[in-house]
Amino acid sequence: MGQSNNKSVSGFSKLSKEDKIRWIADNFFKDPELVKKELTSFWHPNADQQKILDGFSENTLSNFVLPYGVAPNFIINGKTYCVPMVIEESSVVAAASSAAKFWSTRGGFKTEILETTKVGQVHFSWKGDIEKLRRLFPDLKGKLLEDTQHITANMRKRGGGILDVELLDMTHLEEDYYQLKASFETCDSMGANFINSNLEVFGKTLTAFMASHPDLDIQEREVTIIMAILSNYTPDCVVRASVSCRIDDLGYFEGMDAAVFADKFRKAVRIAHIDPYRATTHNKGIFNGIDAVVLATANDFRAVESCGHTYACRDGQYRSLSRCEIKDGKFEFSLEIPLAVGTVGGLTRLHPMANRSLELLGYPTAKKLMSIMASVGLAQNFAALKSLVTTGIQKGHMKMHLLNILNHMEATDEETGDAVRHFEKEIVSFSSVRDFIVAYRKGNPIPSIK
Ligand code: HMG
Repeated sequence: MGQSNNKSVSGFSKLSKEDKIRWIADNFFKDPELVKKELTSFWHPNADQQKILDGFSENTLSNFVLPYGVAPNFIINGKTYCVPMVIEESSVVAAASSAAKFWSTRGGFKTEILETTKVGQVHFSWKGDIEKLRRLFPDLKGKLLEDTQHITANMRKRGGGILDVELLDMTHLEEDYYQLKASFETCDSMGANFINSNLEVFGKTLTAFMASHPDLDIQEREVTIIMAILSNYTPDCVVRASVSCRIDDLGYFEGMDAAVFADKFRKAVRIAHIDPYRATTHNKGIFNGIDAVVLATANDFRAVESCGHTYACRDGQYRSLSRCEIKDGKFEFSLEIPLAVGTVGGLTRLHPMANRSLELLGYPTAKKLMSIMASVGLAQNFAALKSLVTTGIQKGHMKMHLLNILNHMEATDEETGDAVRHFEKEIVSFSSVRDFIVAYRKGNPIPSIK
């Protein structure tokens, strides 16, 4: 295959990985040979491991590498964790580590699992007398539970399974639209496959039950299943993490005394409660921490994010997920967030690094993992707000980003060491670092940088 202007292709999925790379490199890049080398350079050195990674997705060419770091000193419910984090943004791991260290001498993080219920829905269209359907529903429900027994057997042994099934009349919103809304306990698994398998059986059972029911007239026997799928909105699978101490024990912050700091901090959280523009950034900071642990444990970050944001607007306005209270001389900062995550199933044990992450955390239950993630989210939020209400975010963030910029400029160890020393007292920006390096390389190691 050579360079071609034809960027469409048929049968691409059937090509070997090598042929896929060749086609991509030849058709989309100026230097195909370089691209081929680059893509293959990120293959796992162990072919078996690479095969596992390739199997996670489709049309895989290579691996996309992200930094894998750890935040030590997380004391959560009295136990110390070193938390794995996968994230590309500088200062996130440092911020989580710094907040973990700060709270480790002030009682650590406390968490509470409020509930662990997950949700699935069968959406269907039906024309008929809803009162009749309501009368038949107890029988239908029995049949739904009976027909799914083969799927739920193992989960029931673990203490989970289908908790309830409800019939919802949605016709006030859409003509002829109804739902079977089911709730599930999926123990240590995130449960997506378990829930979806049950829901698909529900759809078939509903269709068969209605088709043959003698109390229904001909038209009422016909049901159209629109879809059967879990909901990623899990407002009843919630963890609460908190930190608290006496205001006096907060210490001093860049010359600011504890009472002033606590008051500014509380107001910053309050602003995120009342202003959606601020709330979005505030919650982004929380997800900086949560997503990094979700990724490190190969959980579904899209599900966690979409659920968290829906939860943040559960009263009709998008608001902060965290809360801060100052009462009787005590500072309390907390986060309540739905987290449908698993420590078995999915990729959690299949992905070699996710498996290591779980080992690092002592193979936690799903509830413990929820607690760890919520604590990291809260720590992240604390560190960001602590910077925002004291020095401003750029000081710490750019201190960490400095190393990125120096790497980008291929700075030597000596240049990096001198740059780090120089920028302790100077403002870091891409241009100030570039100016420093250019001047340094011209033989002026201490340029005056404005
Ligand atoms: P510092 O006080 O200069 O740090 O803070 P330090 O050098 O005194 O070290 C204190 C501790 O911080 C260390 O303890 C580490 O735990 C940690 P030690 O290990 O020495 O015993 N730490 C580090 N950990 C790993 N690697 C490092 C490192 N440096 C310090 N290189 C720090 C520096 C960055 C921690 C602080 O300025 C900070 O927390 N800043 C906030 C940074 C942040 O929130 N970044 C997220 C990206 S910004 C964003 O996207 C979110 C945002 O928009 C959200 C919002 O608006 O709410 C801000």
